[in-house]
Amino acid sequence: MKNKSEFLSFTLDLAKKTGDIQLSYFGNISSIERKSSNIDLLTKADIESEKLIISKIKEQYPNHSIISEETESNLKDSKYTWIIDPLDGTTNFAHNLPIFAVSIALMKEDKIIMGVVYNPAANKCFYAELNEGAYLNNRLIQPSSAEKLSDCLLATGFPYLHDKKYDLSFQIFKDFYDKTRGLRRLGAAALDLCFVAMGRFDGFYEYNLKTWDICAGALIASEAGCTVSDWNGKKFPKDGSRILCTNSKIHDSMMKVLTKPEYKIYFNLS
Ligand code: IPD
Ligand code: CA
Ligand code: CA
Repeated sequence: MKNKSEFLSFTLDLAKKTGDIQLSYFGNISSIERKSSNIDLLTKADIESEKLIISKIKEQYPNHSIISEETESNLKDSKYTWIIDPLDGTTNFAHNLPIFAVSIALMKEDKIIMGVVYNPAANKCFYAELNEGAYLNNRLIQPSSAEKLSDCLLATGFPYLHDKKYDLSFQIFKDFYDKTRGLRRLGAAALDLCFVAMGRFDGFYEYNLKTWDICAGALIASEAGCTVSDWNGKKFPKDGSRILCTNSKIHDSMMKVLTKPEYKIYFNLS
C-alpha cells in the first residue's frame, strides 16, 4: 500500500503489540474461565489484549465509539466506531493451537473503512483500507480462481449455542462435503475470511457469528476481490448472523446450497 492512513498505521502497531501479549501467554496458560458454557472460553490473554487495545484507542481517539467482545460497548456521538475481537480463536489458543488472531476494524458511519487481522503465532498480518486493496505482510493478496465446487476447499464454523440450527448445520456441512474437496473448521472466523482473501480457501460460510468476528476480515476479503454477502446474496448482515465469502466464482453455487428450502430456518423463517 503506497500511503497508509494514520488509522491503519496506528492499528498495525497496536495489533503487533497485542500479538506480543498473546505470545507471552501462548503455551503457558494458567487459568481459563467459562463464559456462556463449558466450551465458550475466556483466558487472561483475551482480557489483557482487550485492555491494551481499548486503552490505546481511548488515548488516541477519545471521541470514537468502541464495540469490543469482552466489554460493554462504549458508544459516543461520533462518526467512527472501532470493532474489536481482541483474540479470535480462544479455544485454539487455550489448546496451544497457533490459529488465533487479533481482529480490529474501523467503521465510519455504516461503512467499514479499515480492517487488521493479525495472527501472531505465524507473524501474518492481513490488512485493508476501503478501495486500497488487501495485503498480507505488505504484499497484495487475491482470492483463488477455482470455478467449480469440485475443485474447492471450503471453511466453516459452528457456534457455541447448540440449538435446532446447530443440528441442521451438519446437514449443510455434508451437502458441501459431498460436492467439494473438503471443508475445514479452523476455529477462528477472522482468519477463515483472510484465508479466502489470500486463496487458501475458496469459500467460507458461517452463521451466528458476532460483528467483531467478521468486520475486519470481511473488508480484507472484499478488498482482495472476494464477494462477501448474506447466504442469499444480499448485503451481509454486519451483526454476523450469516456470512458467505467466496472467490466470487463459486458464489452462486454456494448460495444455491445455502438457500435450499430446508435451510430457511437460518433466515428465521419457519
Ligand atoms: C469464535 C471463532 C470461531 C467461531 C465462533 C466464534 P472466539 O470466536 O471465530 O471460529 O466459530 O462462533 O465465537 O470466541 O474464539 O473469539
Ligand atoms: Ca471471535
Ligand atoms: Ca474473542
